[in-house]
Amino acid sequence: MRKKFYITTPIYYVNDLPHIGHACTTVSADVIARFHRLIGAEVFFLTGTDEHGAKVAQAAAKKGLTPQQFCDQISPRFKKTWQKLNISNDFFIRTTNPKHEKVVGRIFKRIYQQGDLYKKIYKGLYCIGCEKFLTESDLVNGHCPLHPPEQTVEQEEENWFFKLSKYVPKIIKLIESDKTNYVFPEGKRQEVLTKLKSGIHDISFSRASVPWGIPIPWDKSQTIYVWVDALINYYSATRFLPGKEKFWPADIHLLGKEILWFHTAIWQAILMSVGLPLPKKTFIHSFYIMANKKMSKSFGNLIAVDELVKNFGVDGSRYLVASSLPVENDTNISVARFKEKYNSDLANGLGNLVSRTFKLCQKNHYFSRGKHSSSFIAGVPEAINSFNLPTALEIIWTNDKQGIAAANKLFNQNEIWQLKGEKIKKELNNVIKIILNIAYNIKPFMPETSEKIEKIFRGQARLTVPLF
Ligand code: MSP
Repeated sequence: MRKKFYITTPIYYVNDLPHIGHACTTVSADVIARFHRLIGAEVFFLTGTDEHGAKVAQAAAKKGLTPQQFCDQISPRFKKTWQKLNISNDFFIRTTNPKHEKVVGRIFKRIYQQGDLYKKIYKGLYCIGCEKFLTESDLVNGHCPLHPPEQTVEQEEENWFFKLSKYVPKIIKLIESDKTNYVFPEGKRQEVLTKLKSGIHDISFSRASVPWGIPIPWDKSQTIYVWVDALINYYSATRFLPGKEKFWPADIHLLGKEILWFHTAIWQAILMSVGLPLPKKTFIHSFYIMANKKMSKSFGNLIAVDELVKNFGVDGSRYLVASSLPVENDTNISVARFKEKYNSDLANGLGNLVSRTFKLCQKNHYFSRGKHSSSFIAGVPEAINSFNLPTALEIIWTNDKQGIAAANKLFNQNEIWQLKGEKIKKELNNVIKIILNIAYNIKPFMPETSEKIEKIFRGQARLTVPLF
């Protein structure tokens, strides 16, 4: 039986247009999904948009549209962007899909039936930007540091509260005892544990003042808190899509560090309450920052995906995003830095190797004979499995036996261009072998480039314009 593999990205809020912060998670998930398909797994890769809540309603009102009209305009922009970046998601979920709404209503009712919801007055601060109830420790200068101060608002309303505190000991046990790093990387695992042990209160799970949401089945005066609605997408897609039931629980939830708590505590508590299996692993990355601030719409320091693709092409963009993935620490990015990296690694690196080899092949009428068996270079699968995409790429570029460095070394040491007859054919064959294996290794990262290279050296296509 084929191994199944289910990977998700966060579903993005539609108040923002897709920027490379979003692309950072989606491209990484795509690389991991393609890698697993390549090694024979049956993959389900899910992404989508998060469409309910105060933030989206506010953005719609600003445009003079109903929330639904607004979502119907923006959600396809995400879908198109991912198509443009050659993202291989198997489904694109929208939380306004009635089938999703139905599953959310069902789960919410089950939480209630478990006795885990009770009514209480919520009084405190709420960040509309995060769609999150703030605690003292969240505040910097009295407001949420991730969004402008006016998005932190005072709130007082009667809500349905969820008995989060009841599940805290079980969640601590789960995260502490898990040998396979339930939360990865280690720094983030420690962060959740510290928070879990700091004394956790129950949390409001509904809103009285936000009509743009899924109504509570037994109390229509309230809507379900947008985060509960959103988290359930990972499960709901496997319920309403035919044939996908077997994919729950997810193998990997991939996300940025600001939503760690929702994905490694609240989500687990919901699933524990209703008795569903828990996701197997959560991968957390840090932020792309520009001018020392998280790249986001709120701070106006964006690089749009369209702009990136215009400058660097599809695979160029995918390479730049994956190679600069902020695994543990925030990464400063800029178009200028991307240009440098594009030139050194792609145009002068891989691109130049392919073009000079192709020219010699053409001159000598020599292309690959027969089938070459390809395999991953040592360290590449491990790096991908531990979410270290920059390291995986670095290995492919610098490995001196099978990487780009190895092909260049062979080329230069043997001064292949000086050789003639059978000698050059033999050497070219060695270089082509390495290049075809490189094509295999970059397949999850740059699928089109990989295919082009394979065709070129099998003599099935000509290199008419440089790869980069
Ligand atoms: N809608 C929620 C997620 C619900 S999931 C059940 C949300 N949406 S969001 O549009 O704000 O997207 C947040 C995610 O986008 C981050 O967790 C991260 O994956 C990605 N990023 C957005 N900006 C980013 C950077 N500047 N850098 C890296 N990733 C970023 O939160």
